Amino acid sequence: MDQITVRSEHADDIKAIDVVHLSAFEGDDEVGLIEQLRQSSNYIPELSLVAEFNKRIVGHILLTRVRLQNERDGVDILALAPMAVVPSQSHRGIGTELVEHAINKAKELGYGAVVVAGHPDYYHRLGFKPASDWDLHCSLPISLDLFSAMELTDNTLGKGSNIIYPSIFTQVY
Ligand SMILES: CC(C)(COP(=O)(O)OP(=O)(O)OC[C@H]1O[C@@H](n2cnc3c(N)ncnc32)[C@H](O)[C@@H]1OP(=O)(O)O)[C@@H](O)C(=O)NCCC(=O)NCCS
Repeated sequence: MDQITVRSEHADDIKAIDVVHLSAFEGDDEVGLIEQLRQSSNYIPELSLVAEFNKRIVGHILLTRVRLQNERDGVDILALAPMAVVPSQSHRGIGTELVEHAINKAKELGYGAVVVAGHPDYYHRLGFKPASDWDLHCSLPISLDLFSAMELTDNTLGKGSNIIYPSIFTQVY
């Protein structure tokens, strides 16, 4: 896609990123969530990505650490949230570019899986599958129909595991 570049967030991008989320979502819950995640140990700077169009930030995606817990042990995987594209630039494939870049970066960093709570049709187009394929549960108060996952390394998700999100996510979900 012409003129769109995707890169990691810089310190001076924060206001522009807030504006992207304020324009795409109702209210400022996502802005507050991102602010708190940035200050948490779950934040991974390389996995906060912005999309630029003519050097202006028009999209943002964040992947942060969550815990996958089964009966025997646990492992850190990633949760995609939030993601937004400014309405004037939507339907141009920018969201898709952001997801693809984030997944590639997550693989480079050695993470084994990504989960997401949100529009299943959107994420299934991008290679996510219903979380029920792995009988996953999650700590968010959402319908499991909205929960999807992607393995970056085979057999990371196992069967019947629980995904534990940091409690700050409940301000949005
Ligand atoms: C969802 C969002 C990030 C998509 O960004 P985008 O750059 O428009 O996405 P793309 O251009 O890559 O893909 C667009 C396609 O995704 C699908 N799509 C977009 N929004 C969708 C939704 N809410 N539910 C299901 N599918 C959706 C459509 O098939 C669309 O295809 P079309 O352009 O032919 O109509 C953007 O619409 C947005 O910021 N929405 C508001 C915030 C939000 O809901 N974020 C996701 C939280 S889970």
